[in-house]
Amino acid sequence: MAEKIVQLAPMLGLIDAPFMNAIAEVGGFDEIFAPYMLADERSIPKPQVLARRFSDISNRVNLVPQLLSNNADAFVAIANILNDLGYPKVNWNMGCPIKFVVGKNRGAALLRDLENIERLLDSAIGRLKPELSVKIRIGFSSPDEFPAIVEIFNKFKLNELIVHARTAEQQYSGEPNRQAFIESAGNSLNPIVYNGDIDCAADANISLPNLKGYMIGRGAIANPYIGLQIKGLPADNVPTFRQFATEITHWYCARNSLNRLKELWKYFAKALDKPDEIFAKLQKINDSEKFCETVESLF
Ligand SMILES: Cc1cc2nc3c(=O)[nH]c(=O)nc-3n(C[C@H](O)[C@H](O)[C@H](O)COP(=O)(O)O)c2cc1C
Repeated sequence: MAEKIVQLAPMLGLIDAPFMNAIAEVGGFDEIFAPYMLADERSIPKPQVLARRFSDISNRVNLVPQLLSNNADAFVAIANILNDLGYPKVNWNMGCPIKFVVGKNRGAALLRDLENIERLLDSAIGRLKPELSVKIRIGFSSPDEFPAIVEIFNKFKLNELIVHARTAEQQYSGEPNRQAFIESAGNSLNPIVYNGDIDCAADANISLPNLKGYMIGRGAIANPYIGLQIKGLPADNVPTFRQFATEITHWYCARNSLNRLKELWKYFAKALDKPDEIFAKLQKINDSEKFCETVESLF
């Protein structure tokens, strides 16, 4: 079986340029997905604006932009600009479960009306310049929806179908339903990427002939070496965890982004002894300099 690819999951409010740049230095990730941006027909950004959005991201990052949209024209317009800017592939977010996204009939809300997905893809695909990757869940309310979801996407040729093995109603908690995933993902004519709670290399053990790889989110913050480990590559000559975490910490401290740091440290702390104690200690700090000093003292 061909080697599986490893992708870094898009995580709005958690992962942006500093994390992407640092993990690209570590290696092991074939592609890094940008957090979603809205594709709305009333506001198609100019190419310069889109280019600026990614300007802090190093060219070592193999970036896949992601769009959140329920409008084929807006999706095509922005995806084609991104392609002109050099991105060969764009992802369509059909999995976001957050209330204000679903309330506007975007993200995972699209999974409630498969005929609409068919209309959107029918309208978009012939006009799209980049390859199309789609990120979904195994259902909106129930994993029983998954077989029909897979069938709808079988009508189209995608670069990949990335499946977060939870329903939208589960949000991010509860166990991913690997069983429901395996039972129907094998029927996909499109290459499949598994996503959900891959926290160590041993979790990347799904055996399906059409499995292209794994997408990893929270597990990659707690362990940025997970891509290398899944691929069995050595972690020699790559930044240490101390270098990795302190570089990112300094970047945000310099910008007084303490809230972001506290979110990141929820996961970074898991790489150290006594993570709960560390996280509780960092949570209380309200000064960037003190935050940085405290982080240095952890190592
Ligand atoms: C804070 C946060 C932000 C997220 N932002 C996005 C996003 O912008 N686009 C997206 O498709 N998924 C988003 N996700 C979902 C992740 O990409 C991923 O599917 C989910 O965390 C499950 O994978 P994991 O168990 O490896 O973390 C987000 C998740 C979290 C926790």
